[in-house]
Amino acid sequence: MTTSDTVKSAVSADLMRQVADAENRHDPYPIYARLREKRVNLLADGSYALGRYADVVGLLHDPRVSSDPHHASNPGSRLLVDNGPFIQRDPPDHDRLRSIATRYFGPPVSPGVVSGQEPEILSFVSDLIDALPASGEADLVDHLAYPLPVSVICGLLGVPKSDEEQFRAWTEDIVRGLDAEQQQGADDLIRQRQQAQVAMFGYVTELVQRHRAQPDGSMLSRLANDHAGQQMTDGELGATSLLLLIAGHETTVNLTANGVLTLLRNPWALDRLRADPDWVIPLVEELLRFEPPVQYLPNRVALADIDVDGTTIPKGASIVLLVAAANRDPDRFAHPDRFDPDRGDIEHVGFGSGIHYCFGAPLARIEAQASLTAFAGRLASPRLAADPPPYRPSPVLRGPLHLRVTYDKRG
Ligand code: HEM
Repeated sequence: MTTSDTVKSAVSADLMRQVADAENRHDPYPIYARLREKRVNLLADGSYALGRYADVVGLLHDPRVSSDPHHASNPGSRLLVDNGPFIQRDPPDHDRLRSIATRYFGPPVSPGVVSGQEPEILSFVSDLIDALPASGEADLVDHLAYPLPVSVICGLLGVPKSDEEQFRAWTEDIVRGLDAEQQQGADDLIRQRQQAQVAMFGYVTELVQRHRAQPDGSMLSRLANDHAGQQMTDGELGATSLLLLIAGHETTVNLTANGVLTLLRNPWALDRLRADPDWVIPLVEELLRFEPPVQYLPNRVALADIDVDGTTIPKGASIVLLVAAANRDPDRFAHPDRFDPDRGDIEHVGFGSGIHYCFGAPLARIEAQASLTAFAGRLASPRLAADPPPYRPSPVLRGPLHLRVTYDKRG
């Protein structure tokens, strides 16, 4: 590496540290724009970050790129667990586990599971809005964005809602440590993440046993008791349950909260949604592009030397795919920094792409659409009490911690 290369990689490493820095959480997009200037950014820990749309999509579909951290030549703390969940597995195990899970979540075997949630989602959202003060101020993270996805995923999986406080604490520790390597205090974050992971794995394993003893028709019960076709081992069942419980609510809360925030920053969009509730469909897609709840995928691994524009990502290197940067790539989207649900072409990578494309996307869409339509329709003259709001700690799963909104009247 020449001196100039070293200087360039120091710049990239610093930019990625800035992305992780809580000071920049409210607006990381100018930093992503700088990371996009180079097709390949070498980071301080030896991993490679890419932010151009074509590169991110290309690598998401590239069989030389693994989702299994065990393949990293220097896995460090990335080596999370043996027999991890299918989000961290490659074919054929990934495909086998995902297809078993899909049997109880979507077509062709269970076509009505997600769409069947819709009436309950609408009624739950309505109850949540009814419970807000008649006028004044409310935190729409605590009272709208968070309770809906938690309640839905608990109901679907068969997780007692009374355990929410406990698994919320574990989930927070796991999520905060997702990209510990780029953050300050990495050792503590990693230790807390690992402890939470062990504890939560114990919890779901016990839960699965309870479902074996007393089946109730929920997804975990069906996964644990169905003997038709292929089955998961107990370890795989625990890892899948943990994945679904965390992924099922930690991201959707941010989509809804980012949506409320974006609507309040763009009053024309709020008026338009009020007048035309069906407009929520392109609105939510544009939100997934403009403010993606999953900002980047930190743990891919090169299974072979991969050449990108003359730079070799060596076999065994970790790869960071910057979803949020790709979604605002001017080579892919016109006026990428403009929030424009009418842009027509919104092929974002907010749900990923390729074989790991989000398993829960149809559910997340219904939840966010229901929450945002109700918010627009029922709160008169809503205003942000603080802009920017405080953010949750994770740079990876990014969204407001609280969103205090004042309004004249609840309808
Ligand atoms: C707005 C909400 C959501 C967003 C933005 C989101 C985003 C993503 C992204 C970007 C991926 C790809 C990860 C990768 O390639 O490594 C993914 C995968 C996944 N998501 Fe979601 N997700 C959301 C909601 C959900 C929900 C509600 C569930 C569960 C019901 C869920 C379950 C999963 C699972 C299991 C995977 C792994 C898929 C695989 O490895 O094949 N997600 N999600």
